[in-house]
Amino acid sequence: MIKGDTEIYGVIGFPVKHSLSPVFQNEAFRSEGINAVYVAFEVKPEDFEEAIRGLRALNIKGVNVTLPYKEAVLKYADITSNDVKVISSANTLKFTSEGIEAYNTDWMGFLRSIKEHTDIKGKNVLVLGAGGASRAILFALQREEANIYLWNRTKSKAQQIAPLFGATVVDMPEDVIHEVDVIVNTTSVGLNENDPPLFNYEKIDEKHVVFDVIYKETELLKTAKLRGAKAIDGLDMLVYQGAESFKIWTGKEPPIKVMKKSVQGI
Ligand SMILES: NC(=O)c1ccc[n+]([C@@H]2O[C@H](COP(=O)([O-])OP(=O)(O)OC[C@H]3O[C@@H](n4cnc5c(N)ncnc54)[C@H](OP(=O)(O)O)[C@@H]3O)[C@@H](O)[C@H]2O)c1
Repeated sequence: MIKGDTEIYGVIGFPVKHSLSPVFQNEAFRSEGINAVYVAFEVKPEDFEEAIRGLRALNIKGVNVTLPYKEAVLKYADITSNDVKVISSANTLKFTSEGIEAYNTDWMGFLRSIKEHTDIKGKNVLVLGAGGASRAILFALQREEANIYLWNRTKSKAQQIAPLFGATVVDMPEDVIHEVDVIVNTTSVGLNENDPPLFNYEKIDEKHVVFDVIYKETELLKTAKLRGAKAIDGLDMLVYQGAESFKIWTGKEPPIKVMKKSVQGI
């Protein structure tokens, strides 16, 4: 029951009404008997600064940060972990008496999810995209000493970040497709059914592991499956990044099974 002493957590983004985070975070609080609630805060860009200050003033305990604010939020953080500095993006804030702590749990979510399907230590990996999700994934891949190829529609953005993560920029995904073991889509391409493909997906073969950050079965994943490759969507990554946020806020082990079950089939 929500009472006077119920703690409030949430996700701040724009748009954010579609977010699955309230579903699994509330399930986690309920299952652990924690007196807390998790809500979605849809905040327009012109109100963002006021919203961050307001969250603190209202004694909100913590929030996830999603598109388009993962980079903009760094300016308000008092304490940032090293991974946040390297990735230049945060997806988790904890409000404490010392100030605003910023964390990035996206890379942890990715690593945990992909490791359930393949060992990526030292593997050849092609990363598509050079935005916030890409930087988190590049950070994770670098830790695993993967040999990283990076492609982005806007090549200059890939060239800018590649040296930070020891990645090699490629002109076309097809240039290295037969050399890589793993392909990771970090772009939003595939969210809409009529999105044009990022490359010729028919070039995928059964030796590939294909990971898509998008939570549903995209055209990329459908073709990968049809061609005998292992196809992994972004739903587990989402739950695992949220589970790490839960741990940061509560200091408790997240009930992963409960969290996963709550978003199945949504
Ligand atoms: N599963 C999870 O837990 C999880 C976690 C984080 C993010 N995500 C998802 O990851 C996606 C990307 O998020 P983000 O924060 O990285 O966004 P972002 O920083 O805005 O980056 C977007 C990336 O997508 C590329 N892109 C967009 N439209 C494209 C198109 N039509 N063709 C080719 N490339 C295109 C951009 O290329 P340019 O540089 O050329 O514009 C850029 O590389 C979103 O769908 C988000 O929901 C999932």
